[in-house]
Formats: sequence, C-alpha cells, structure tokens
Amino acid sequence: MDGGENIVLIGFMGAGKSSVGRLLAKRLGRCFVETDDLIVAKEGRSIPEIFATGGEARFRELEADLLELLRLKRGEVIATGGGFPCREGRMETLKALGTVIWLAGEFEALYERALRSGSRPMLDGKPKEEVAALCRAREPFYRQAHLALETTGLGVDQVVRRIVSLLRSRARVG
Ligand code: S3P
Repeated sequence: MDGGENIVLIGFMGAGKSSVGRLLAKRLGRCFVETDDLIVAKEGRSIPEIFATGGEARFRELEADLLELLRLKRGEVIATGGGFPCREGRMETLKALGTVIWLAGEFEALYERALRSGSRPMLDGKPKEEVAALCRAREPFYRQAHLALETTGLGVDQVVRRIVSLLRSRARVG
C-alpha cells in the first residue's frame, strides 16, 4: 500500500461508507474525511437544508466545487456521498486521487439501512421503485472503481478487514 495514495470509498446510500471509512482510517492510521461533511462545514448548513433551499442542482455544484480541495489530499480515507461519482468523467477524477473502492450490496439491504440512519433528501417522498431505479442507473459509474466489495451480510469490521487484505494483495501485485 502506498501511504501517499488516498483511499476513496464510493457506493449507494446505506452502503456503510461512513462507518467503514472511519474504522478503516483508524486501522491504517490515516485521516478520515467525508465529502458531505466538507460541504456542511463550508456552507454552515445541513444537507437537507441545502437541498431544501437550492435543490439537488445546488448540492451537485457544491460537490463539484470540492474536487479542487480533494486533489490536495494525500494518504487519507475519503468517503463520498452516494451521488458524488455519478457524473460524466467523475470516476476518472476520483481514480486519479487514489484507490477507489466500491462498497456494493443488495438493493434491499442498502435501502433498509439508508432509511434507518440519517436524513437523506434523495429518499424523501420517493417510492421504493424510484430509488431502486436510481441505484441501477448509478451502477455503471460505481463499476468503474478499482476494487469492488460485496458487503451484504457483513459487519463493518469484516468489511474493513477485507478491504485491508484487498489493498495489501493489490500492493503486492502492483
Ligand atoms: C446522496 C447521498 C448522501 C448525500 C446526499 C445525496 C445521493 O450521502 O451526499 O444526501 O445522491 O445518493 P450518503 O451516500 O452518505 O447517504
């Protein structure tokens, strides 16, 4: 594992990017940062407030604005919001920042987890089928990750262990 390379976690809402990222960073002795937190800190408003006032379009602009800042990061674990990688050319940009890992999972499990934790404007008032369609539409972006991990049925600790071993074997090969 190259210590200077960032580790970028991507995946749909409810994939566990935040909890996995936090524990992974701790295990590897790295800093942990979340794109959502950077936006909230910069704007001084919560994600639901940003969506309520500026809509999704404004939130996506704020995500795009973060790219410059992310390019300055070295050796960090970065968890992205679920929609962050899903723009034309965005996966190439993320892959230039470091090793991109897709936390994949069965839609039902992701949806249940996403509904349970945190307030997510992308779920508000949407029928489940619409969210499932969004998840499917995002997959071609997520698939471009360097590594993918199926997380269904795994706990945070198990996911982190698998990531560490994937990264180690990748470092040996590369
Ligand atoms: C979003 C996911 C959220 C957050 C915002 C939009 C999305 O992050 O960035 O509510 O479009 O999927 P999580 O993936 O951490 O829930």
